[in-house]
Amino acid sequence: MYARISIASVRSPLSVIPIFSDALALPVRHARAPGAAEAMRTFKGELGETVTLGHIVLLGAGRRSDLTIAAARTLGAKLVRALDRVGASAARIESSASLAADRGRRFDAGQALGEGLAIANWRVDAFDGTATKRESRRARLTVDADDREFADGIARGLSIGASVNEARRIAATPPNICTPDWVAAQCRTLARTHGMRCSVIGYPKAKSLGMGGLTAVGRGSAHKPCLISLEHRPRSLARAARGKHLVLVGKTITYDTGGYSLKVNNGMKGMKYDKCGGAAVIGAMHAIASLKLPLRVTALLPAAENMVSDDSYRPDDIITMHNGVTVEVTNTDAEGRLVLADALSWACRQLAPTAIVDMATLTGGVVTALGKFSAGYFCTDEALRSRVEEAASATAEKVWQLPLWPEHREYMRAQHADIINSNPSREAHPIQGAAFLAYFVDAGVPWAHVDIAGVSASETPSDLCVAGPTGWGVRLLTALAERMA
Ligand code: BES
Ligand code: MN
Ligand code: ZN
Repeated sequence: MYARISIASVRSPLSVIPIFSDALALPVRHARAPGAAEAMRTFKGELGETVTLGHIVLLGAGRRSDLTIAAARTLGAKLVRALDRVGASAARIESSASLAADRGRRFDAGQALGEGLAIANWRVDAFDGTATKRESRRARLTVDADDREFADGIARGLSIGASVNEARRIAATPPNICTPDWVAAQCRTLARTHGMRCSVIGYPKAKSLGMGGLTAVGRGSAHKPCLISLEHRPRSLARAARGKHLVLVGKTITYDTGGYSLKVNNGMKGMKYDKCGGAAVIGAMHAIASLKLPLRVTALLPAAENMVSDDSYRPDDIITMHNGVTVEVTNTDAEGRLVLADALSWACRQLAPTAIVDMATLTGGVVTALGKFSAGYFCTDEALRSRVEEAASATAEKVWQLPLWPEHREYMRAQHADIINSNPSREAHPIQGAAFLAYFVDAGVPWAHVDIAGVSASETPSDLCVAGPTGWGVRLLTALAERMA
């Protein structure tokens, strides 16, 4: 585990030599390295397979035609672990241009590899106490590549990876520390260090602004709710970005007990990850500001803790939302849509957005529908839909569109108020969430809703990530903003 990974050329680094499984040969200049001939007898060139021979590292790159963005990321992940195992402090990737099909793709391949290096070099160790003995983060790793485009891509990838890890750090912080105010403090620091503006609407102000959803969900907690906003307003805008204003909204439930509709059978465990939408949006703002993207972007984070107390909201309460829509609470565990709804209507009224994308761990139903490999998403606008899909395929963060028809909105009709927050029928659950939110987005505003309940955290480690928060969505949102600028 490295304390830091950076890109620079240094003297006598380890030479990393990528070798494809369908072109199993050592470059001539290394053919006589000690042990090389022998190593090549067993080396298969599988993706991420490594052999260290003195000053060289053979790095399997798999089949040439299989080297996708996701595979290049895995390659970076396996490489950083291999370098760590041998205690390397500097490595230079040779023949790096061979890892991509053409000039443009060399940057993309380098970026994916750089992301893999950064993302795999992360774990949750902020809470190690005196009973944990593990190797501390070793000094530094310096990487380089012989192809300029590829090396520039690595630099970008390391930066994006740091933003992904920032989202994971926030997501991993437990609810006894990570309260709505704590998230606000993190955002203030981020704004200060990255040239953004942060403002926070506190609980009393939210009440006076009529944010009935956010205040109902959060009022039962000793840690009161707030609506955090982070603004990236670059001085000069790209031509394509003039007049555009992208608004990102992230569900930031610092803990979801379910409220009086309490989560049972230990279904509560892991609900510290119910802020992963907000964490992804914060990570994306970190990236957008670091890359100085020439586009106006505002993040809104409705932050609340869904608790049980004598002041908690209840099933049967009827609340009035920021846009005047009345909601009969049928289930206090459908809290995410209530806090998001106020943020969405606030965005429509105050920010003149030209596109809104919200990200939320909204429903268990999306996991039932799609599993843990892709997010479910909904979109009301053709142009935004194609941007989201482009960004998803460029970053290999998969999304799958679900329909949102007028019939779905009927699921949410109430008898004694405008709408209910959850239909007792479990039909089309993830779509019910989206259908509810649709009541809070003004007609004509392009809007996408991304339900990340399945992808935001994992109980098992993967090639790329340790068990825990994945930072899913940071790359997607950043790529989306890049495509709008
Ligand atoms: N935070 C949960 C959704 C969730 C479930 C995220 C599992 C990650 C893993 C959300 O607030 C919730 O409780 N959803 C309910 C909605 C229902 C009460 C309408 C659900 O999915 O069952
Ligand atoms: Mn819930
Ligand atoms: Zn929730």
